[in-house]
Amino acid sequence: ANALRLGIAGLGTVGASVVNLLAKHGDAMARKAGRAVTISAVCARDPNRDRGIDLTGLSWFTDPVEMAKSDEIDVFVELIGGDNGPAENSVRAALAAGKHVVTANKALLAKHGVELAQIAEASKVSLNYEAAVAGGIPIVKTLRESMSGNDVSRVYGILNGTCNYILTRMEAEGISFEDCLADAQRLGYAEADPTFDIEGNDTAHKLAILTSLAFGTKISADDIYMEGITSITTADIQAADELGYRIKLLGVAQRTDTGIEQRVHPTMVPKSSAIARIDGVLNAVAVDGDFVGEVVLVGPGAGGNATASSVVADIADVARGDQTPVLGMPAADLDDYTRARMRLH
Ligand code: HSE
Repeated sequence: ANALRLGIAGLGTVGASVVNLLAKHGDAMARKAGRAVTISAVCARDPNRDRGIDLTGLSWFTDPVEMAKSDEIDVFVELIGGDNGPAENSVRAALAAGKHVVTANKALLAKHGVELAQIAEASKVSLNYEAAVAGGIPIVKTLRESMSGNDVSRVYGILNGTCNYILTRMEAEGISFEDCLADAQRLGYAEADPTFDIEGNDTAHKLAILTSLAFGTKISADDIYMEGITSITTADIQAADELGYRIKLLGVAQRTDTGIEQRVHPTMVPKSSAIARIDGVLNAVAVDGDFVGEVVLVGPGAGGNATASSVVADIADVARGDQTPVLGMPAADLDDYTRARMRLH
């Protein structure tokens, strides 16, 4: 087959890391996938900014919608972010034009994921989003593919690297919330608008995606009880410490007697538990499957290189011709989330 031609939209922290990763390991990845892969085009607002990456010979676009429709690309890699505007418009344009899409955009999927899955399936293209949940941890493929033989009763974890980084340093070094957040931003962990991290929205977006994959329901972020970490003080952390606990921001989705429950809030976890030992930018996701038991994945949840690792895995799936349905089953067959809840009441 001809080389698979990528168009990368968004050259921020993650976009630059994807370009670097492909420069270093693109050929090896393509050999494993059985098809050559090449970057044909990139899209960013400022072509002149020094990003420390080599972009010579690539087509430049400033309008992602235009690149999404361009004959020069087969795969549209969306690393712009945001649940509307350029990210949404360009992903829709790419799918409508019959391009495969790889995205790291959890906000977009949390809001429009089911509809985008339907469009992708109708257009017979893939929509891959491993990087959207827990950065470098391969939890999407784990839930969707590797654990598909199980009835899942619960999925939960630490899903935001920025918050875990802040809580860890507040506890270990007594540094203020504001200073920790500034460092997380400098390290490229935080969202463009970091209120999404600290208020819990980012965790909720990721949880909504995991819930759909775990329970076969339509994505529903509106239903999530959400509380972030902005009110946590070093005094709270010390008090928890004296009682033998650490404070972690958890996202939890589980079957209960009254329905599927989704919630995001700071939680006191016993210091002896595995989840208490997940420090810094690490995330952890635990899944309870009825045949396998509990599976726990731990790894970097944010940062350019870790996230690029997942983006490139998705590109490899496209190169391989993987045809797994976007949300683990044809989008039309997903249970209505509200009805799934009501049936359990
Ligand atoms: N801002 C996110 C985090 C990036 O801190 O986890 C990864 O999705």
